[in-house]
Amino acid sequence: MNNMTKGAEGASAFSPMTISDADFRRMVNFIQSSYGIDLSQKKQLITGRLSPAIRKLGYKSFGEFVNHVLDKKEDSEITLIINKLTTNYTFFMREKEPLDFFREKIIPDLVQRHQRDKCLSIWSAGCSSGEEPYNLSMFLFDYLGSQASQWDTRILATDISAQALTAARKGVYTLPDTIPPEWKRKYFTPNKDGTHTVAPAVRNNVDFRTFNLMGPIQFRRKFDMIFCRNVMIYFDQPTKDALVRRFYDATVPSGYFMISCSENLGANAPYRRLATAVFQK
Ligand SMILES: C[S@@+](CC[C@H](N)C(=O)[O-])C[C@H]1O[C@@H](n2cnc3c(N)ncnc32)[C@H](O)[C@@H]1O
Repeated sequence: MNNMTKGAEGASAFSPMTISDADFRRMVNFIQSSYGIDLSQKKQLITGRLSPAIRKLGYKSFGEFVNHVLDKKEDSEITLIINKLTTNYTFFMREKEPLDFFREKIIPDLVQRHQRDKCLSIWSAGCSSGEEPYNLSMFLFDYLGSQASQWDTRILATDISAQALTAARKGVYTLPDTIPPEWKRKYFTPNKDGTHTVAPAVRNNVDFRTFNLMGPIQFRRKFDMIFCRNVMIYFDQPTKDALVRRFYDATVPSGYFMISCSENLGANAPYRRLATAVFQK
């Protein structure tokens, strides 16, 4: 056996540490009450994703780490937990049908409504590494064409994962085939290693910020449209219902709301359904 991989508990540095049921429950409760994410069925995910980092920090057991996190609530450890335990999977052009609805129906309506102030307010809540808000920006630029410079279409894009937001701000991606060739030319700059960087105009049109959706939603303006796709799938129903209510309050009258095609809003949702995954206040 390689000595380098010999860690606490005599296991390899890469094998998950064991966690007692009590410590697992304490960890699950902390994550759920702080961030809404329900990991009560995800013991392996918690131990698998956190163990290498916990060992590296010198903790002898999972219990010791949980005690420290709950007692001290230090930023560095909270950041580690969020970076490791959030699921940041996302990609450009995710779910074409609702995006087509946004492009064909919602953008023209919002542009019509805002002819005077020329200012849209759109929020990508749970934006992960940025593909979603950049994608929305590209739709807006396409629609506005030469008029775009007269408009303020800046998109607020928020997440709790510092790691995801760092990648989002960099805006460097391996582009999937689903990106239209015209977009590749217009909205990206190719890099030597085959990746592409989002063009400055699109980058500057997205304002990335850290924001925990479990907190009060207090932004300067209400939103013409809120996207919260593939985020609430990790929340339990009461958490989701309460968040949808807060989104509703933060939406302008007749404003829009989009979730993912695999989610439901629940029977008591205040929004009116318009199309698959698309709702209106
Ligand atoms: C699967 S990604 C979705 C990305 C994109 N919206 C999409 O549909 O492709 C879910 C994101 O939600 C974020 N998230 C989870 N809980 C959150 C919370 N309480 N506050 C803010 N963001 C959260 C995660 O960090 C993750 O980046």
